[in-house]
Amino acid sequence: MQTENNAQLRPFHTFGISQQCQVLVEAESVDDLIAIYQNPDWQALPKLMLGKGSNMLFTEPYQGVVIVNHLQGISYSSSETEHLLYVSGGEDWPSLVEWCVAQGYAGVENLALIPGCAGSAPIQNIGAYGIELQQICDYVEYLCLDSYTIKRLSNKQCRFGYRDSIFKHELKDKALVTAIGLKLNKTWQPILSYGPLQSLDPKTTTPKEVFDVVVNVRKEKLPDPAVTGNAGSFFKNPIVSIEQHETLKAQYPALVAYPSGDKMKLAAGWLIDQCGLKGHTQGGAMVHPKQALVLVNANNAKAEDIVNLAAYVRDCVLKKFNVELEHEVRFMGAQQEVYLKDLL
Ligand code: FAD
Ligand code: EPU
Repeated sequence: MQTENNAQLRPFHTFGISQQCQVLVEAESVDDLIAIYQNPDWQALPKLMLGKGSNMLFTEPYQGVVIVNHLQGISYSSSETEHLLYVSGGEDWPSLVEWCVAQGYAGVENLALIPGCAGSAPIQNIGAYGIELQQICDYVEYLCLDSYTIKRLSNKQCRFGYRDSIFKHELKDKALVTAIGLKLNKTWQPILSYGPLQSLDPKTTTPKEVFDVVVNVRKEKLPDPAVTGNAGSFFKNPIVSIEQHETLKAQYPALVAYPSGDKMKLAAGWLIDQCGLKGHTQGGAMVHPKQALVLVNANNAKAEDIVNLAAYVRDCVLKKFNVELEHEVRFMGAQQEVYLKDLL
């Protein structure tokens, strides 16, 4: 277990913004996690579990212990009808997807190239290109911070929703995800509902072909965090009532929206784009010129540049469409999670 005091967080999150933390620990096992929580020197300090930091903004120097997830290992078993994978929480998600496709374990290919750890995937129920983790997640194992025992939640118990799960509610700050179980049906049904995937023939296409299209679309649309700091979609796509959707649609016939249960999900990228904000800058932060839902660290941005830009984008969309955007990116303040509405 590697420990560093007054560590620089810049290499540990994808916005690439300089920020210090009091202690940084790289944990390789469940025993390491327990030892961190029971270390008397760190007892009084807040603690943050981090995967690859691809959905994080550190708004201030963090006065606590950042724990980087390095729990490794994948095991495979199968039933007559399913491939079953037990994946340790620190495994790299994009590498896992690529490996599954190479092994012929189909069903995960639409979730290619989403940065992050396997153990972070259930937190916001990652989703892209027509599927969400919840469609392939069998169970989630976590270290319970009350009892220091490993517990397992079934898919249903995780209460997955759009960018949501029990880990953002009842189990927030009470659970560290240590492993996930994936269940992939041996009878593969391609999911080709998303625009660019519709050109593939469902009768002849292969998981590798779907994987390749998803990878290409993502590379074209989304900035590579290794080159330009970002955390993917900054805001969630807002969910509004049918009535509100109809009112907006009457005013803006080109409005992009999808059914979401008995409501409608609006494309936040379209709303931001319509405000003319692509390429808009605030200090070193910028609305990505190709995808307005992504805010980027264009030029040595400070955390406050990103926060100011996010507030400006939120305010413009509220003023034009009367729709309030909620950030998907998690903000960490000096001691605890903070929210844009409380900052600005
Ligand atoms: P982190 O950013 O390290 O952590 C995120 C949150 O989860 C934090 O609150 C953290 O405390 C908590 N957490 C992390 N690990 C654990 C754990 N083991 N136990 C308990 N809590 C934990 N997301 C999508 O859903 N779909 C996309 O298509 C998508 N595309 C993206 C594209 C880019 C270029 C980028 C940069 C991000 C994208 N994201 C997308 C967001 C991001 O990839 C996901 O949210 C991912 O699951 C975050 O994983 P992470 O390991 O980086 O988590
Ligand atoms: N659009 C614009 N202008 C823009 C951006 C988008 O008009 O600048 C329009 C597009 O033309 C399209 C619609 O908005 O008609 C939706 O855009 P896109 O397909 O790019 O998807 P998104 O809604 O912006 C969501 C997820 C992504 C996920 C993609 C693909 C959220 C918040 N974001 O983005 O997830 O990869 O769909 O499924 O749900 C993430 O969560 O970090 C993330 C990248």
